[in-house]
Amino acid sequence: MSTTILWYASRGAGVVSLVLLTAVVLLGLTAAVRWQSAGWPRFLTVGFHRNLALTTLAFLAIHIVTAVVDPFTALGWNAALIPFSSPYRTLWLGLGVIAMYLLVAIMVTSLLRPLFGYRGWRLVHWLTYAMWPIAVAHGFGTGSDSGFAWMLGIDAVCVGSVLLAIAWRWSRVSPTSWRQVAANG
Ligand code: HEM
Repeated sequence: MSTTILWYASRGAGVVSLVLLTAVVLLGLTAAVRWQSAGWPRFLTVGFHRNLALTTLAFLAIHIVTAVVDPFTALGWNAALIPFSSPYRTLWLGLGVIAMYLLVAIMVTSLLRPLFGYRGWRLVHWLTYAMWPIAVAHGFGTGSDSGFAWMLGIDAVCVGSVLLAIAWRWSRVSPTSWRQVAANG
């Protein structure tokens, strides 16, 4: 495959992964506040949250594999699997690897939730609050397109929408539900 195609595929899949990941986080926050309406029952939010998360993993796999096999960057598998081992953009790529491991942990504990129990699942799921900003920092720091207006726009919409959704989610947690969270995990 031509190195140009691989390069475009990796960048494109990186951007799609970020947008999908953002949508997954927004749906997760919507599910957490138990929002629903007459035309949008809660099970739709939960179903989309899960299926979009699986789709994100598929795009992330394309992003990573195409970045690794592209002879132009010559990353090698170590760079994709061992955080901060890449001589190429060490910090920013390392953050991408960490985000990937956190996402995999969040997905595995969700898919095998009965094995981990509600408390274990929930604790790992909270790592989303670290995983998502780390993924954003990775894309912003290493992306060739970060400086372009369209990419800045995508980053701004992703960050703005998640910040608003987090504010909405935490404004709806009453002291009683805090106590329930503490008691039940
Ligand atoms: C949750 C995990 C990840 C997300 C959401 C993500 C997303 C992104 C985004 C949005 C970009 C910017 C693309 C652009 O500017 O066009 C990017 C760039 C990049 N990512 Fe990731 N990434 C993740 C993990 C990884 C991992 C594990 C690797 C390891 C191989 C990796 C390798 C790269 C490379 C090499 C670039 C630079 C591409 C370029 O030169 O523009 N990413 N990523």
